[in-house]
Amino acid sequence: MREIEEKAAQAYRTEFGEDPELVASAPGRINLIGEHTDYNGGFVLPCAVGRRVAVAAAAGGGELYSTNFEETHPMSGEKDSSWADYPRGVVWAFGEEGRKVGNFRAAYAGDVPRGAGLSSSAAIEAATALALDALFGLGLDRKDLAVLCQKAENEFVGVQSGIMDQYASLLCEEGSALLVDCRSLEAESVPLDLTGSGLALLVCDTRVERGLADTGYNDRRAACERAARTLGVEQLRDAGVEDLGRLSGEELRRARHIVTENARVLEAVEALRTEDFRELGHLMYQSHASMRDDFEISTRELDAFVELAEAAGALGARLTGAGFGGCAIAVVRTGDTGALARDARETFAGRGFEEPVFYEFVPAAGAEVAR
Ligand code: GLA
Repeated sequence: MREIEEKAAQAYRTEFGEDPELVASAPGRINLIGEHTDYNGGFVLPCAVGRRVAVAAAAGGGELYSTNFEETHPMSGEKDSSWADYPRGVVWAFGEEGRKVGNFRAAYAGDVPRGAGLSSSAAIEAATALALDALFGLGLDRKDLAVLCQKAENEFVGVQSGIMDQYASLLCEEGSALLVDCRSLEAESVPLDLTGSGLALLVCDTRVERGLADTGYNDRRAACERAARTLGVEQLRDAGVEDLGRLSGEELRRARHIVTENARVLEAVEALRTEDFRELGHLMYQSHASMRDDFEISTRELDAFVELAEAAGALGARLTGAGFGGCAIAVVRTGDTGALARDARETFAGRGFEEPVFYEFVPAAGAEVAR
């Protein structure tokens, strides 16, 4: 078992005085490219990171304990705006789908940074869904579990996110990114061996906290829907560059990002298949510029990191996730990550920004039942 899984198991024993029946865990994610495309029926290319939420669980009882928050909440009932809304939302979503989940007890431990845009919420949902599926022998497949987790997030927690994060957490494979067609919900692993090419993925958490609910996320979603209506298409997935001339102002800018970003995801997949990391990097820079200028979800911290990365010769860099804060990523030569992190720390300090935190990730495994 991974350390974080041991930690959940140990917490279960301490809290509940018995052994758990099983331990499951699910990762956070970064998105290589394809931002805000998921709820437009488009393409995304996330990969799982080596930080996870683990849950140790057994049938019976009805308490949820978190080692991170050191608190216990009931497994079912009303939303109370705590961390427990995520697992409780999953229990609720199973019920809505007519799946019988009995009473259970669970202890959680996680090391996915919270509020950083690395999808700790999808990780707790995915770990819970996989654990309950195994515990109660429901036999749902990963895609169904991901859709169920999204339902929990949209309808119980009340955040209008797309499907990317839950898909990434449940379906990613070690050493690969995951191409998801967010309309058909088909997903395909695309090998991503950066290390083999002497490259590393550096993640810069700008520590500008973003809660999806209180950002412009819903605004952007609404603008995309308006643009689709103006164009007479179901979703912006169905629009092409040739249609953009029929839009203006905000609708034009938002739609231009989505249309060009969808194309970039498919080009990025081609680049990965031919191990053309230069091309991947090039697409990442274009993606960032599009999010900065057209979708307007970047911040001065995210822009600063991307500029520093480019100046330092990184192959590519961009903000990742919803934007409005959170993390940026850079594809950098293995030996160069330390210098870039140092540079960024200095520049951020000089400009009076929060001190950033850095992670180096290799594409990790998706959700698993450890035992
Ligand atoms: C958040 C949402 C995802 C996706 C991204 C932006 O992570 O949860 O569904 O929309 O933002 O790409």
